[in-house]
Amino acid sequence: MRDRYAIIGNPVAHSKSPRIHAEFARATGQDLEYGRIEAPLDGFERAVDEFRSQGGKGLNVTLPFKRAAFRYCDRVSGRARAAEVVNTLVFGDDVFGDTTDGVGLVTDLTRNLEVVLSAKQVLLMGAGGAAQGVVQALLDAGVAHLAIANRTLSRAEALAARFPGVTSWSYDGLGGREFDVVVNATSAGLANDAPVLPASVLKPGALAYDMVYGRDTPFLAAARAAGAQACDGLGMLVEQAAEAFLLWRGVRPETSGVLERLRAG
Ligand code: ATR
Repeated sequence: MRDRYAIIGNPVAHSKSPRIHAEFARATGQDLEYGRIEAPLDGFERAVDEFRSQGGKGLNVTLPFKRAAFRYCDRVSGRARAAEVVNTLVFGDDVFGDTTDGVGLVTDLTRNLEVVLSAKQVLLMGAGGAAQGVVQALLDAGVAHLAIANRTLSRAEALAARFPGVTSWSYDGLGGREFDVVVNATSAGLANDAPVLPASVLKPGALAYDMVYGRDTPFLAAARAAGAQACDGLGMLVEQAAEAFLLWRGVRPETSGVLERLRAG
C-alpha cells in the first residue's frame, strides 16, 4: 500500500495542497497518495484517530484545527512549542507535530520575493492562530522590529508578550508609524473585509503580504492603490508544503516550478 497523507480542515474542498503534494511526489520520485479530509468542527481528534488507524503517515492541518493539532501531539518541535500551533503531523511510534508556516512565509518573502528582512520594520496584523505561527520565524529572520496589531488589542498584547522586543498595537494606534513590510494574518480577507490601517503605515515601496491566497483581498487592493507592492499567500502555501514534505519524506522538493504552474491556474 502506498504511504498515505492528507490535508485536514474545514472547509478543505478548494485546498491546493493535494495538487502541490502530488507535484512534489512526482518531481522527487516518491510513491505516495495525498487526499483531503473535511472533519466536523467538533470532530478533529476522531477524524485523525481514524486516519491513523487506517495507516495514515501524516497530515497537513489547516483552519480551524491548528491549535487542536498542537494539543493532539505527543511531541512537538521547538518552533511549534513557541507558536502553540501545529500544521504538520507525523505519525510513527508516536505523534510528532511541527509548524512550517513561519519558515514558509519567510522563505517566500526572502527567496521568491527577494525581500531582505534584516533591518526591516515589519507589521503583523492579527493575533489568532495564523499570526501565532509566524512570529518566531520573522524574529529569527532578523527583522529590526516586529509590531503586532489586532482588532482586539488584548490578544495582540498577549501574543507580543511571549516574544522579547515585539510590540502590540491597535490599528488606530499605528497612526504616524510606517513599515517596510505589512503581513495580513487576519482572516478578514476571507469575508471580503480588511482591518482599517492609518495611511502612514505603508511606506512608499512597502510590501503588503496577505496570507490568504487565490483572491485579491480588500487589504491587497487598498495597498496597491496606495502604491505598495501587493502579494498573496500562494508562495507561503507552497513553501510550507515543501517543509512538510521534507519532514515526511526526507527530501525538500524544488518549489519555483510548482508555484509558477499554480499561478498560471
Ligand atoms: P486564525 O487561526 O485564522 O488566525 P482566529 O484565531 O479566529 O483564526 O483569528 C482570526 C484573526 O483575524 C484575529 O486576529 C481576528 O481579530 P480579533 O482577535 O479581534 O477577532 C482577525 N479578524 C477576523 N476578521 C477581522 C476583521 N473583519 N477585521 C479585523 N480583524 C479581523
